[in-house]
Amino acid sequence: MARNFRPRRSVLYMPGSNARVLEKARGLEADTLILDLEDAVSPDQKEIARAQVVAALTEGGYGNRELVVRINGLDSPWGRDDLAAAVEAGPDAILVPKVSHGADIGLAEGLMAKAGAPSSLKLWVMMETPLAMLNAGEIAHEAGRADARLACFVMGTNDLAKETGASLAGDRDGMLAWLSMSVAAAKAYGLDIIDGVFNDFRDEAGFQAEAEQGARLGMDGKTLIHPGQLEPANEVFSPTEDEISWAREIIAAFALPENTGKGVITVDGRMVELLHADMARRTVAIADAIKALQS
Ligand code: COA
Ligand code: MG
Repeated sequence: MARNFRPRRSVLYMPGSNARVLEKARGLEADTLILDLEDAVSPDQKEIARAQVVAALTEGGYGNRELVVRINGLDSPWGRDDLAAAVEAGPDAILVPKVSHGADIGLAEGLMAKAGAPSSLKLWVMMETPLAMLNAGEIAHEAGRADARLACFVMGTNDLAKETGASLAGDRDGMLAWLSMSVAAAKAYGLDIIDGVFNDFRDEAGFQAEAEQGARLGMDGKTLIHPGQLEPANEVFSPTEDEISWAREIIAAFALPENTGKGVITVDGRMVELLHADMARRTVAIADAIKALQS
């Protein structure tokens, strides 16, 4: 499939109220930046944060980093003004928190259109309410409409813990079912999905383990709260050199004249099927996209 892979290995949150970090992020190795107006900003700073985020986006200087504005909930006092301001400032996507139903997608997309958003402006949503876990498929299904903007799920694991009582401790076994269900829902409709944050940002081993777990679950990347988490996230969510060369071997093997029309072949003593060739092309596409991002 000729899908365009946009690396989203490292997705760094920044409080919109913190001018210093908005400036700092222009030099950080993040694939994506989330300029936050919601949970990281206290109620008395909402207006200042909105103005600073708009100013930062207008000024630019973020290179080819993908830019996402997380607005306040559309039922909050700030959500609709945030959305209008974000559309005006022109990021790559608007991230809407606390969605729970498929209808929430249509509502957000309708407001975006009304605010004059170009069709290239995407919608991302936080998956962080108990209802969103129950309705993950219904929410993702909205991406199937021809004019859909929905492009990405972001796991809001702190809110999920708060709302459900499930723990983030240990290896997140209290949340595994929801993480996996959300991955399945996202992938069923061609969405990317980014894992939740790891709060204890000085705990490098803990972060590494959780990032690797996310990658095993099928996450495309991880949301981050601190620059120290960038390098390990970029590493964990990139294909390794070995994986890339194995992928190239598989693609080359299927291209040999003696293998045309075959569904299963042997490469290096291992059974390889056409589905592995699809996976290999995906690996190479991701590796190429990462290389393109770096240049
Ligand atoms: N984005 C960009 N830069 C950041 C950053 C972030 N999220 N977090 C920290 N930095 C910068 C700091 O400005 C500092 O640089 P400086 O000394 O040149 O100013 C450097 O990285 C080191 O920061 P450090 O002192 O270790 O952390 P801190 O005590 O300043 O901040 C947090 C800790 C958690 C408050 C901060 O990392 C943060 O606000 N993270 C994002 C929280 C968030 O957005 N949450 C919402 C989603 S869960
Ligand atoms: Mg939240």
